[in-house]
Amino acid sequence: MNLQSKVSRYSQEFDPPVRGDPITADRYISKEWMAGEMKNLWPKVWHLGGVLADLEEPGDVIRHNFAKESVIMVRQEDDSIRAFYNSCPHRGNRLILADVTSVPRITCGYHNWTYDLDGTLIKVQDPDDFEGGSPCGKVHLSELRCETWGPFVFWCMDDDVAPLHEWLSPFPERLAGYGIDNWVRVLNLSADCEFNWKIIRDNFNESYHLPTIHPELATFINDGLPDTLFEMYPSGHNSMWMKGHQATTRVDYHTTEVPAPLDQVARAWGIDPADYAGHTGDLRAAVIEAKRRLGPERGFANYAQMSDQQLVDYFHCTLFPNLTLTMSPEQLQVLRTEPHPTDPEKCVFQHWCLYPPIAGMREVETPLGTVPLRHDAIARHSTYGDGVSVGFVADQDLSIGTSQQQGLNSRGFKGCILPGQEKRVQRFHELLNDVVQG
Ligand code: FES
Ligand SMILES: [Fe+2]
Repeated sequence: MNLQSKVSRYSQEFDPPVRGDPITADRYISKEWMAGEMKNLWPKVWHLGGVLADLEEPGDVIRHNFAKESVIMVRQEDDSIRAFYNSCPHRGNRLILADVTSVPRITCGYHNWTYDLDGTLIKVQDPDDFEGGSPCGKVHLSELRCETWGPFVFWCMDDDVAPLHEWLSPFPERLAGYGIDNWVRVLNLSADCEFNWKIIRDNFNESYHLPTIHPELATFINDGLPDTLFEMYPSGHNSMWMKGHQATTRVDYHTTEVPAPLDQVARAWGIDPADYAGHTGDLRAAVIEAKRRLGPERGFANYAQMSDQQLVDYFHCTLFPNLTLTMSPEQLQVLRTEPHPTDPEKCVFQHWCLYPPIAGMREVETPLGTVPLRHDAIARHSTYGDGVSVGFVADQDLSIGTSQQQGLNSRGFKGCILPGQEKRVQRFHELLNDVVQG
């Protein structure tokens, strides 16, 4: 099926065909679909478990609750990191009950079985009461794969999935120039939501909603087509390059004065916005030049490795199935939805923001305003709709989730009708069909 439209711009290299599978409501609603995902999808992908900043010393532990599962990542005495299912081999009790902690050994709160950091059982009550002798040294926590990339630690339940760096392809290479290894997670936000996890995945797989849901982005992000470039990779991941430091071409800002907030950005880089009145699109190139010239003396050592595009544009990397990394030179946003343990019409939304540690910089501009530049300066979990922000653009995306979920439940909804620019949505669901239904 050809969803290639005349207005959308797909890279020639990364534009696989789609079949046109129907996208009906059952995948957002039914327990059978949810069970299929639990069985065939979630074990087959790498999951972002946390940031290495929480695993500095031996005994540091991150717990990641995912649907009904819970995984712990533990820094070892030899500095490696291992991941275990958070379940006691004795009779199944969860071992670690905090999101982040530090322990000399892993001790179960039920009967006090105690495990070394490497998962080996080292102490039980009444060791002589077991047939065959003490289980110590013989029993181990159930282990799963654990690998790192940049500032992140990942886990995976399946031994046949490709190693993490290969699975992430092409992003380790594409994002190398940003130099994210030492970036600091300043915002760590999450919220319980009343919609299926795929509602927000679909949202991140298209930019069709920007004029309606995010109208204020139009003065500094060019969401016009065909200025935006879409790529869909063999790995199943995809990306969207959106020009930044340039107003949208959907509306005529290009022959006017430089609109706010671009005028302020121009001044911050020593550029007089008046010089760009009537040709505001040229400001982007001027900012590239200014960043190259002034960036190093302002502490942005990472600019030197970035391409011109990376210096000014937004690179939205959407990994199959549920992880988005939105890159700009000064901010990395992690946006993710994870399934609810039992209800297909609920999910957990997560939003982390990471920033490069620029010498002398104490604060950063975040989607929650100005925040101190330190690890987890704001960390909180909320319920969407209770008035607690998860970041202003993300709030806008989430605002549509509940009403879309409700509408999908209608007998009158017959399946999605997609324009060419939503081809990534189509491909996402076809990959999902292949994985979940076989
Ligand atoms: S369930 Fe953990 S010690 Fe009994
Ligand atoms: Fe959005």
